[in-house]
Amino acid sequence: MFKFIPTLVFVFALSACSEQAKEANSDSTNGSKSEPKFVEKIDNLTSIEGAIEVGKDYHSQSNPEQVSVKDIALDLTVDFEQKVLRGTATLSYQKHDAAAKTLILDTNDLAISSVRSGDSELQYTLKNENSFLGSALEIALPADSQPVTISYTTSPSATGVQWLTPEQTAGGKHPFLFTQAQAIHARSFIPLQDSPQVRVTYSATIRTPKDLLAVMSASNDPDTERDGVYEFSMPQAVPSYLIALAVGDLEFRAMGERTGVYAEPSMLDAAAAEFEDTESMLIATENTYGPYSWDRYDLLILPPSFPFGGMENPRLSFITPTVIAGDKSLVSLIAHELAHSWSGNAVSNATWRDLWLNEGFTTYLTYRIMEIVYGTDRFNMEAVLGFQDLEADIARLDERDEILAIDLRGRDPDDVFSNIPYEKGALFLREIELSIGRDNFDAFLKQYFQDFAFQSITTDQFIAYLDKTLLAQHSDKLSEERIKQWIFEAGIPDAAPTPKSNAFSLVDDARSSWLDGKLDAKNIKTEGWTVHQWLYFLNNMPDELSSAQLANLDAAFGLTESKNNEIAHSWLLISVENWYQPALPRLHDYLTSIGRNKLVKPLYRALAKTEEGKALGRKAFTQAKSGYHPLTVKANEGFIQ
Ligand code: BES
Ligand code: ZN
Repeated sequence: MFKFIPTLVFVFALSACSEQAKEANSDSTNGSKSEPKFVEKIDNLTSIEGAIEVGKDYHSQSNPEQVSVKDIALDLTVDFEQKVLRGTATLSYQKHDAAAKTLILDTNDLAISSVRSGDSELQYTLKNENSFLGSALEIALPADSQPVTISYTTSPSATGVQWLTPEQTAGGKHPFLFTQAQAIHARSFIPLQDSPQVRVTYSATIRTPKDLLAVMSASNDPDTERDGVYEFSMPQAVPSYLIALAVGDLEFRAMGERTGVYAEPSMLDAAAAEFEDTESMLIATENTYGPYSWDRYDLLILPPSFPFGGMENPRLSFITPTVIAGDKSLVSLIAHELAHSWSGNAVSNATWRDLWLNEGFTTYLTYRIMEIVYGTDRFNMEAVLGFQDLEADIARLDERDEILAIDLRGRDPDDVFSNIPYEKGALFLREIELSIGRDNFDAFLKQYFQDFAFQSITTDQFIAYLDKTLLAQHSDKLSEERIKQWIFEAGIPDAAPTPKSNAFSLVDDARSSWLDGKLDAKNIKTEGWTVHQWLYFLNNMPDELSSAQLANLDAAFGLTESKNNEIAHSWLLISVENWYQPALPRLHDYLTSIGRNKLVKPLYRALAKTEEGKALGRKAFTQAKSGYHPLTVKANEGFIQ
């Protein structure tokens, strides 16, 4: 289904239209001895003529301007044998145009069996599939504007659903299912207007095998009877990408008054201990940015195939188990998903071009929460690492992908994932904070979250709001020109703030002495180094290291055996790039036990650069594929071809 663009033609097309076709060129030419070469999919980068229509959602075929869905009532049976969800979605809607006769929904790979209103059948047409956008479902509305009920079944290969066999779970006895709707995959499990500017309330009856528990991004009752029928309601209007469901052998443990964790029984203790500061994070965020609007904040720990670090499903963030490190070193992920309760879930991006309004604000808030809960040293270290991730992406990406308000016309949002909306967005906000002072900026953000609560907004609305507020109040310190440079131009503007961490200076010294041969690895004073210091130590190694040097590090620090998934990732990347063979068995284990794309994709990308690496990647991918999420398969399959 997913095609990778034939390489050479594509490279030429890119180079011709941009001097900066860095990613395509570096990935296809560096050290690759194999034919045909593979270029990571960067589709349709040739500019589309004409101005972007601001606020238009180029990723939905639905018609909310005429008729918008207001509420969805689901009644779904979870069939683990067939790997399908089967049942009905009843949609209530509002006509904005009295003459509107048709409701257009998004679907992707759904089998529709009927559309009714009350007792009467309605006419409908399922349009031809339009690439990654799916098939529009056009429904002839009843004259009385009563709700419509669609009976449907999902496909076993729905892009937004992963079905896991018992062997792919921690407990090994029960199957597991989870959905991941962002950005445009809700349409693969619910027929709806799959646009972030359409907000709906929803309710659901979910029918599962009796011994399993269903949870959703809605009200979850931790004490519900496990009887295989679960009821949910989400009374606050949310964009479709925040509708989520998971089913498995789950148990609940409270962590604080409003916070708790759901996980498979064998993971529950470790998860509750790792994330015990969630309640403090919630309080810290409320104190700074205003009340939490969503009642409870719980976490759901997924199996390791979850393709993201986390997903901010309201009231119930979905979390990868790969951050359970035993020392809280990776819990900024929780701060991040929690922060989305303000930036993203309360104030949402209106289109995927505006994703930076979600992720940039959330990344900025994450740093602030981490500073409040864990102190300035931790904050500084994380900020430097985040900045370095941003620099690495800027070195790799085409200029058009370095713009906050990115042009996504004709492109699949899944193919455009990078640190730009996250770290560049956060750095932009940091600059404003430094210019006008922290207290002023905090007051501004609190008001912004209040003014746009439960709305979906565009970048242009944000700029207009800035014009009226901060730009008017601080015209001596801020300029519209500078703001537009951040939002509409590539790269990092000159004189942008650069994070610094004193705790990293000694790491730089240690690395230099070791590289100069003045210090054997075992004599480096690493006692007390934090995970962040280790990451900084490894991430800033030169590109080329000898196997003897790597063996020296490995003997001193046991890096190949590191239990910390981020440290292991950095080490394995160095090992692939320098073909350090003793680490390759661990690499195979890593790639076949984790499906989080951020951790596996750079490894597959590095492996693809040599023939022997590619063979190793192919072996791991072939073994792991049936357990990978559809998104992880799509993002990596090209590297092994
Ligand atoms: N909402 C995102 C995940 C996402 C973004 C899914 C865009 C699909 C499209 C989530 O909040 C996120 O940012 N996750 C990051 C967390 C990290 C930056 C702390 C991840 O998964 O790595
Ligand atoms: Zn996020």
